[in-house]
Amino acid sequence: MSSKLHVLTGITTTGTPHLGNYVGAIRPAIEASHRHDVLPFYFLADYHALIKCQDPERVRQSTLEIAATWLALGLDTANAVFYRQSDVPEIAELAWLLNCVTAKGLMNRAHAYKAAVQANQDSGESDPDKGVTMGLFNYPVLMAADILMFNAHRVPVGRDQVQHIEMARDIAGRFNHIYGEHFVIPEAVISEDTATLLGLDGRKMSKSYDNTIPLFLEEKKFRKLINKIKTNSQEPGEPKDPDSCTLFSLYKAFARPEETAAIRVRYAEGIGWGEMKGILFEYLNDHLKAARERYEALLEAPGKIEEVLQEGAAKARAYSGPFMKEIRASIGIRPLG
Ligand code: TRP
Repeated sequence: MSSKLHVLTGITTTGTPHLGNYVGAIRPAIEASHRHDVLPFYFLADYHALIKCQDPERVRQSTLEIAATWLALGLDTANAVFYRQSDVPEIAELAWLLNCVTAKGLMNRAHAYKAAVQANQDSGESDPDKGVTMGLFNYPVLMAADILMFNAHRVPVGRDQVQHIEMARDIAGRFNHIYGEHFVIPEAVISEDTATLLGLDGRKMSKSYDNTIPLFLEEKKFRKLINKIKTNSQEPGEPKDPDSCTLFSLYKAFARPEETAAIRVRYAEGIGWGEMKGILFEYLNDHLKAARERYEALLEAPGKIEEVLQEGAAKARAYSGPFMKEIRASIGIRPLG
């Protein structure tokens, strides 16, 4: 199991996957799940979800939707280890051990924590830590445990997560220094060339801007949302700039290069926004239809998803169980006689 390169990434289970998630993270991960020269670990980070969300129904629903999404899109679960974080108790156990070698000062520098403190200061709040839970503060340690538990060599993440990988390296080095070389020092992989999708309002598609287009939306609603995408006021017949256009950015993220080139020509010829929205809807809808049907069928059969997750957890624990035993022994927690 461990002679291959371990590639690991987590998906926090809050919210519903949108087109931006798909293009930026899900699609490349699913493609990589078929690679037999690496061992991919993909997991649903439900303990991470608790940091942002204390609505039990939403955590459950999001776990279901995200798992169904990945399976519907063709994740290779025979090759990849696909599991739910909370089904692998060794991760939480390791997080505590890592807490005990992690400097508090390191966590003080984490972006998410600093942003929360800054927001309190900006709003004139006298307590800088107002609303900050230990979960939020400690979050990089849990993430380090996710990564180090499986000795991941490579961790594909968005730019906003790079600092966390740096911290995981730091923590791993500290642990190794005290207790011996147990952990691989992980490396972040930032895919520079994945398209940044634009959202309904023309800004980057992101949950925090509330401008997303869900990946699997019922056809009529999907068409409606595409029609709502903001464009400029240029008339049909006027030449248009594709590179600043949200419709084009979406089309390009899905289409083949020669199809994109053909649409580029249509922009130069002055295609009308109504027509372009029609083309975009048809293209995306064709592309996503079969997966959407599988997704809907999976949502109707949550027991099936659970079964897949349990198989994944068993594979993950075959790794984390023995490794945790070794780690416990190294720190002096072992049978006395
Ligand atoms: N924190 C990551 C995010 O919000 C998700 C995540 C949790 C993760 N644990 C991880 C990513 C471990 C990579 C490795 O995107």
